[in-house]
Amino acid sequence: MGATPDGLPVQQQHSIEETIPVTQAAAKQVHPVKVLSWPEKLTLIKPMNIQPINTLGQFIIERQSEFPYSKGQLSRLLRDIGIASKIVNREVNKAGLVNILGDTGETNIQGEKVKKLDLFANEQFKAALIAGGECCVFASEEEEDILPIENPVSVDAKYVVMIDPLDGSSNIDVNVSVGTIFSIYRRVSENGPGLLSDCLQKGMHQVAAGYVVYGSSTMLVYTTGHGVNGFTLDPSIGEFCLSHPNIRIPEDGKIYSVNEGNYIHFPQGIKKYIKYCQAYDEPSSRAYNSRYIGSMVADFHRNLLKGGVFIYPVTGKAPKGKLRLCYECNPLAFVVEQAGGKASDGYHRILEIEPTDLHQRTPVVLGSKKMVEKVEWFLKEFPDPGFF
Ligand code: AHG
Ligand code: MN
Ligand code: MN
Repeated sequence: MGATPDGLPVQQQHSIEETIPVTQAAAKQVHPVKVLSWPEKLTLIKPMNIQPINTLGQFIIERQSEFPYSKGQLSRLLRDIGIASKIVNREVNKAGLVNILGDTGETNIQGEKVKKLDLFANEQFKAALIAGGECCVFASEEEEDILPIENPVSVDAKYVVMIDPLDGSSNIDVNVSVGTIFSIYRRVSENGPGLLSDCLQKGMHQVAAGYVVYGSSTMLVYTTGHGVNGFTLDPSIGEFCLSHPNIRIPEDGKIYSVNEGNYIHFPQGIKKYIKYCQAYDEPSSRAYNSRYIGSMVADFHRNLLKGGVFIYPVTGKAPKGKLRLCYECNPLAFVVEQAGGKASDGYHRILEIEPTDLHQRTPVVLGSKKMVEKVEWFLKEFPDPGFF
């Protein structure tokens, strides 16, 4: 080992740096860690000709600066949801291979048949959130009551999570896309395990929301109120990678998504709107396309990317609508608004509805702004008093 001009030993290296003398003092120097932004990372990687990837975990850390007073709890919560969804994805993917298909024979509190995967997904998210320590109360489509979290690691938990663990579950058996929807609030109660009042906040108070669609690819899409970003799961590395940055929904679209089998039970305004969609009119690119999968997440996701409107109105059979406000409509309403779209119950903004019941239902119209406004116009123009 040689010596530097100041007499200190030179460290031998086996790289291009071996000609550079490194003093012990310099080697011990502590460099402050700087979190690079995505464009900065791209500048570094580009000359190396390496395909850049931004994983969900990296992205969450980068975006933490959008919450100057946050100590990283929300980031950890989102990370926990991402991990649980990867496990659910694994089970959904192999659903055809193992004896996990079919009904459990039980019904959930909505009186609907529960598929095994609904229960599995519910347990996965619940376990991840209990163990994660950031969630003070958990509520789910599959649980009659809230689950206040009492756990030594959760004593400082500030967040409330409501979830539809498996959306579109009637599609599982036929290998059609299903999803998970999640909604996150800050607690309003002071401390201790969370309360029902923490869950019954207006959707406009959500701090984050999103969904996972288990489709031909699996994607996680979420917002924290600063735009919408989408991540595609790369199964070869087991990571969600940023694939759809800053999603914007087209202001207008040519797709309408509604269960037309219920047509006879729809309000006048919706019937007239459907006829409007089907009418030929070249200047407005009609007739529109009808697309309805029967998994809200999958229908919503397609319309978010392509432009369109998803409608689940009140019907004679479901006078309050079918879909649930707290864990289906509010989170997707937050996402669509953040992407430049609109979400309404036909008359009012979804995010301003005051929830009174954990499992309450609401009619819903969400998607491209102009299309939602058109549906609202039809409902106003063709009222049917007494329908409800
Ligand atoms: P879930 O599987 O969570 O109960 O949700 C099913 C929902 C939603 O995903 C879908 O849009 C809607 O039910 C379909 O209902 P219809 O079969 O009445 O059209
Ligand atoms: Mn659902
Ligand atoms: Mn469900």
